[in-house]
Amino acid sequence: MTTLQRAEAAEHALSQELDRVVVKSVLFTSGERDPRQPVTRPPDDGRLYMMGHDPRLPWMPDKPTLFDFFRLRFGPSAHLLQSARLAMKNGVDEKIVLACLLHDIAIAGFIRSDHGYWSAQLLEPYVDEEVAWGIRYHQALRFFPDESVGYRYPELYLKLFGADYVPEPHIQAAYRYARDHKWYMTSRLITVNDLYSFDPTVQVQLEEFTDVVGRHFRQPKEGLGFDQSPSAHMWRTINWPTRYL
Ligand SMILES: [Fe+2]
Ligand SMILES: [Fe+2]
Repeated sequence: MTTLQRAEAAEHALSQELDRVVVKSVLFTSGERDPRQPVTRPPDDGRLYMMGHDPRLPWMPDKPTLFDFFRLRFGPSAHLLQSARLAMKNGVDEKIVLACLLHDIAIAGFIRSDHGYWSAQLLEPYVDEEVAWGIRYHQALRFFPDESVGYRYPELYLKLFGADYVPEPHIQAAYRYARDHKWYMTSRLITVNDLYSFDPTVQVQLEEFTDVVGRHFRQPKEGLGFDQSPSAHMWRTINWPTRYL
């Protein structure tokens, strides 16, 4: 290949990347459209389908870290940062500070519904079992007061779900199970520090937690998504949410 041909080939590859056909996952649009209907897709006109980095998204490093996901794929994380700072201020164990920093990451970057479970599953290979357990059950515990630690039913939930909302039986069952578990207080402390009316004027930087994350989060050397862990595929999907397969 001559230099000119090589340049043309590179330009062609780039324009193809920018011109890939993107087909949304059923889950991305379910409700906005009837999931039983065939997914509508633009005419491909011979174009290739999205199979990697989506040029509309910021580039992730080849070996992404937890903080790369915070910076490049998650929505605003003031709630997580302020909860972690409150936990630190309250003098809880560092593992619980980490749990507070990560407790809602499914909401921040993946799936909102059943976020405690998704968050725990994303994190399980990289944190203490107790941390992941606490994160899984904080979702259910949020609906149930515990006077012994001063935790009351969140006023925010009254506004969000109405005064007559009653947690469904599977949530009540999860609560009963968690209440009698040896790690109950780990999960409960997440709810105690779960700052739902956080102060928009307070800025907390991710770097405040570099050491806590360094000590308690086992960052894989291959990068999150590329380490063959049981949740690596979930991190890859956050990285490349529009891949065709
Ligand atoms: Fe939560
Ligand atoms: Fe939260």
